Amino acid sequence: MSDPDRIVQSFFGDFGGRYVAEVLRAPLDELEVEFITAMQDQEFLRLYRNLLRDFVGRPTPLLYAENTSREIGGADIYIKLEGLAATGAHKINNALGQGLLAKRMGKGRVIAETGAGQHGVATAAVCAKLGIPCRVYMGEVDVRRQRPNVFSMELYGAEVVPVKTGSKTLKDAVNEALRDWASSFQDTHYLLGSALGPSPFPDMVREFQSVIGRELIEQTQERGIVPDAMVACVGGGSNAIGFFAPLLERREIRMIGVEAGGRGSATGDHAVRMEGGGRLGIVQGYKSMFLLDSDGQVQDTHSVSAGLDYPGIGPQLAYLGASGRVEFTRASDQEALDALRVFARNEGVIFALESAHAGAQVLKTAKELGPGKTVIVNMSGRGDKDIFITAKELTPQTWKDFMQREVQEIEAKEKQS
Ligand SMILES: Cc1ncc(COP(=O)(O)O)c(C=O)c1O
Repeated sequence: MSDPDRIVQSFFGDFGGRYVAEVLRAPLDELEVEFITAMQDQEFLRLYRNLLRDFVGRPTPLLYAENTSREIGGADIYIKLEGLAATGAHKINNALGQGLLAKRMGKGRVIAETGAGQHGVATAAVCAKLGIPCRVYMGEVDVRRQRPNVFSMELYGAEVVPVKTGSKTLKDAVNEALRDWASSFQDTHYLLGSALGPSPFPDMVREFQSVIGRELIEQTQERGIVPDAMVACVGGGSNAIGFFAPLLERREIRMIGVEAGGRGSATGDHAVRMEGGGRLGIVQGYKSMFLLDSDGQVQDTHSVSAGLDYPGIGPQLAYLGASGRVEFTRASDQEALDALRVFARNEGVIFALESAHAGAQVLKTAKELGPGKTVIVNMSGRGDKDIFITAKELTPQTWKDFMQREVQEIEAKEKQS
């Protein structure tokens, strides 16, 4: 049964739980006990907070998007700049927490899955800092489209393993990591990157990501900002739940989750689980809303952003959606790219493609709310990692010329040596 006062709730209404093979029950039990103990240990919390400050660079700023707000003529828009955290996204809040937990449990090895590569980069950086060997599973398609992040992970000393099964994206990377963990948990921690998977992962990831919402409460109070709405993109749901959770009791604040509308509503063209597309199912160890076919098989998804290209959603967000506390909507690939351009030109801030989905929605919400109101968007990541996608989409010819010159340079160097 869910008990909102417990740090590990496991179930959120009908959603959540721990549906795993017998072999994984012991490591999940161990993890739950260690997590609960660590969260009451002042020394652990002090270490975590100090590294959030000195290694991650927290608190991340809250920026008034003055030019965009003026241009729209609606509500004031503020941007929580999570993308300014070390390694470029919110993922490091959780990677650091779980990395410290792995150390505390005496695990000599960490494995992780990654989609966009941001969680992989964050995990690789944390493991470098804490001196733990690290292996990252990444779908082959994502390895190709997020090459700069693969480069960074390897530079941090991690081993990146391309996953060639299924659709070769995030869900397949999760499967592969779970497979590895089933035979290695004695000395290995599986550092899962979103608020999904078997309990206690959804609760644990929410707790480590809630630093976003807690900082927001302080920053808005200090500056006398009263939020009317909050907007976040939703892949598995870690940035959204971390942003929303500490403010959920403030019923007057609308909370809006934005899924990947992709290139259309046909099967395989999007990753919209909550807005009518998904069905209740049990996949990868948890019960939630998934994109499933009539046989219950997981469907293919598409998004311009690798981080939203996932067929399931974290159980707590599924519950908050079903209960009406969080509204869900979608942004298409094109709307995300357009929003990315708006914030780059108006505010000097380049959103990650995932976050740009929330960016697209915040433009609509600001207009809808009208003047005198305030809406805050979580920029879960910055867009540097996406240059090979955005440049190709926004300035194809210039980018092609650049790439051709780069290849010629590499070939000329190879001939000389
Ligand atoms: C920048 C960024 N935002 C959002 C996401 C989606 O994940 P989540 O829904 O867990 O925040 C990702 C995933 O890789 C990401 O890299």
